[in-house]
Amino acid sequence: MSSNARPLAVKVKTAKGRKISSTRWLQRQLNDPYVLKAKSIGYKSRAAFKLIEIDERFNLLKSGMTVIDLGCSPGGWSQVALEKVCSKHEKNALNSLGRVIGIDLNEPEAIPGLEFYKINFLETDPIDLIGKLKINNVDIVLSDMASSSSGHKKTDHLRIMALCESAAFFADHVLKRGGVFVAKVLSGGAEPELQKLLKIKFEKVINFKPPASRKDSSEKYVVAIGFRA
Ligand SMILES: C[S@@+](CC[C@H](N)C(=O)[O-])C[C@H]1O[C@@H](n2cnc3c(N)ncnc32)[C@H](O)[C@@H]1O
Repeated sequence: MSSNARPLAVKVKTAKGRKISSTRWLQRQLNDPYVLKAKSIGYKSRAAFKLIEIDERFNLLKSGMTVIDLGCSPGGWSQVALEKVCSKHEKNALNSLGRVIGIDLNEPEAIPGLEFYKINFLETDPIDLIGKLKINNVDIVLSDMASSSSGHKKTDHLRIMALCESAAFFADHVLKRGGVFVAKVLSGGAEPELQKLLKIKFEKVINFKPPASRKDSSEKYVVAIGFRA
């Protein structure tokens, strides 16, 4: 689905008290085909399509898996992960009862089947968290964590990289052999260091920008496959 595929349908007028940037954001939301499609399907966010596209490309999510979704709110990725890991229709599934554990600063609206923990990931010791969740041998750690934009490119980059590095450290302690780590990163700066580290821990490390990720954003996803344990 291309976000350039259709002309703008809804025009938003500037309103008293509303900043021009907010008007632009609103106009983009109202005309974004991914936002419209997410709404019609019942996904909590347009981000759901990013995970769908990552999964279509790398074939990661399978019935019976245990998935941890870091930065899960409002919940699009968790919904997609639940559909995949709890599917009873997949051929050769040994166990169709997969698990999706979501972590975020903000609680999403109820998502049936999601085990949610309201946690500030940066203020939690990963080892304590693993004890609290009583988990190990996790198949996939996902991180779409992002703090709200400061408007300062370098600061935003450093913040996302800090979240991504913590997620990678956590993944290093919970993943099973052969496991997968997927995380949002921003291009530039500290990102090559993380890649280097991941290449030691995983058999394959690939950068991927799903079509649903906005072209004007420097966001992309690092997909690390085959955890060496
Ligand atoms: C882009 S949204 C994730 C969207 C989600 N993947 C979806 O499909 O709906 C980023 C999320 O990261 C969360 N986040 C940012 N910093 C965090 C932190 N330190 N600990 C936990 N969650 C955090 C935010 O609260 C926000 O919900």
